[in-house]
Amino acid sequence: MVNGVKATVQEFEHDLSRWLVRAKGITKSFGEGHTKIPVLKGVDLDVARGEVLLLVGPSGSGKTTLLSVIAGILEADEGELMILGENIKAFSQSAKTLFRRDHLGFVFQQYHLLPTLTASENAAVPLLIRGMPKRDAMAHAEEVLRSVGMGERLASLPNRLSGGEQQRVAIARALAGDPQLLLCDEPTASLDAETGHRVVEQLRAIGKRPDRAVIIVTHDSRIFEFGDRIVHMDDGLVHQIQDGSEQVSG
Ligand SMILES: Nc1ncnc2c1ncn2[C@@H]1O[C@H](COP(=O)(O)OP(=O)(O)O)[C@@H](O)[C@H]1O
Ligand SMILES: [Mg+2]
Repeated sequence: MVNGVKATVQEFEHDLSRWLVRAKGITKSFGEGHTKIPVLKGVDLDVARGEVLLLVGPSGSGKTTLLSVIAGILEADEGELMILGENIKAFSQSAKTLFRRDHLGFVFQQYHLLPTLTASENAAVPLLIRGMPKRDAMAHAEEVLRSVGMGERLASLPNRLSGGEQQRVAIARALAGDPQLLLCDEPTASLDAETGHRVVEQLRAIGKRPDRAVIIVTHDSRIFEFGDRIVHMDDGLVHQIQDGSEQVSG
């Protein structure tokens, strides 16, 4: 009996040490009554430590909603969700905010840059809210911006930047915080092939570090080769999980 309990605890601890994200039976609907739209219909998804996971599927299949649930931005209606071994559903709103600040990074589909801040200031935000002195935060943000080819636009406001440039600022902001779990929604959609390639290599380098993982939502078949696994979503469900080595095309 005691041995049985011990084995169960060990198995549980092993699971926690292997998986950075464990989602089981996640459902999410929008609206009420007869206008209620089920968007996630029972999603199971695990992401291992050190994994770069690509999430693909048709528009409207629930990819952004799933990413928002994993980020704790939206609350699931049902299901279990463990992030970094924590049951974030049980967290208070302020604990969730702190958890996001300290462990998660996002590249949003619509960039969500702060319009009155320069590129450098935008990229420094995750560091400033963690309390890093401004001079250090700005120096680090500028270094990351240079690494995504934005060294010439450090002082530009978002409305003076092209879509692709804004996307790179959003990526620099996510990279600057060096998050344990990085969530990216269509991060290469506005980038040319060469820049997209470089950015995905940087995202991959983060995911491959110990104790880290990256989830990338994408339509972009040019980057499929960068995923350890490719998860196909359709109509609110995970339909197929493919090994990245299975050489996908198209
Ligand atoms: N806040 C919302 N309110 C109502 N419906 C929403 C909301 N967010 C998403 N949806 C709907 O949920 C479905 C899935 O959206 P989304 O997760 O953005 O899909 P994807 O990212 O795969 O394109 C779509 O039909 C969309 O219209
Ligand atoms: Mg989307």
